[in-house]
Amino acid sequence: DTTCYESPSLTQNTIPVHLMEVKARGRFGAVWKAVRKAEVVAVKIFPPQDKQSWLAEREVYKLPQMEHENILTFLGAEKRGDNIQAEYLLITEFHELGSLCDYLKSHTVTWQEACRIAESMTRGLAHLHEEIHAKDGSVKPAVAHRDFKSKNVLLKSDLTACIADFGLAFIFTPGQSIGDTHGQVGTRRYMAPEVLEGAINFNRDSFLRIDMYAVSLVLWEILTRCSTTECEATDYMLPFEAEVGQHPTLEDIQECVVHQKKRPVIKDVWKRHPGMATLCITVEECWDGDSEARLSASCVLERLSVLNKLYQV
Ligand code: ADE
Repeated sequence: DTTCYESPSLTQNTIPVHLMEVKARGRFGAVWKAVRKAEVVAVKIFPPQDKQSWLAEREVYKLPQMEHENILTFLGAEKRGDNIQAEYLLITEFHELGSLCDYLKSHTVTWQEACRIAESMTRGLAHLHEEIHAKDGSVKPAVAHRDFKSKNVLLKSDLTACIADFGLAFIFTPGQSIGDTHGQVGTRRYMAPEVLEGAINFNRDSFLRIDMYAVSLVLWEILTRCSTTECEATDYMLPFEAEVGQHPTLEDIQECVVHQKKRPVIKDVWKRHPGMATLCITVEECWDGDSEARLSASCVLERLSVLNKLYQV
């Protein structure tokens, strides 16, 4: 029961994409597992009203030097159909394990696996955040993700991570001012206190620090599902699910994160494992209410690569 998905317009000479099943539903449309040219791919379909988001995401993938083992591999972007029937497709590599969130819901991880996921995910974000001047004269601008969360981290079959969903990303084109972009974007649960307060500075480092707050919550999610001899993993919960439940309002999250200054619970038993103890300190530094005190992605990467070297077998 494979759906054959072909352009109704014969003038658009596109390769047929056979949609198989919906893998995820996001802010904009759905992500399908699909087959194109005998290759399994992921196809994100944006409805016409979300064309801007498709354009924005395509622009990020097409930046110089975006190809990186820890950034989802872009395969193509196409418009299919016309006018009201138009749909916008974003084609990427497909990863059978799906998102880190899905994986943690149904699996616990060993400490080695936790380190591997954490390091590779941070490596992807550090690459995204970095401005790179290549020898060929091309420049990869710094990019803030602005919707970093465990649903937007995909796991490859070797349990290394890649970062996906650049629909809200912000590109810091050198020499160009930031202008009046919208500040309060992303997923409530992962919003940094300054975003919740509507008190962000519109400069590059402030945007990157907002991503680092979200990274801390994802690292915490990994820690909760890590099973070692010192501690048993507990059931999967979203960040702040214990504090505000599954469907918090913006006010619920503001009250919890900004006014009560709560953060997810770091368990004492985690600190009995020396590696986990180091990761706990990193998490706490990244969710600091003072955004300037947070670690950068490259600093977290440095720490995690040291941890990884100590523990990988
Ligand atoms: N969910 C969202 N994007 C995906 C992808 N590229 N592969 C697998 N699952 C996904």
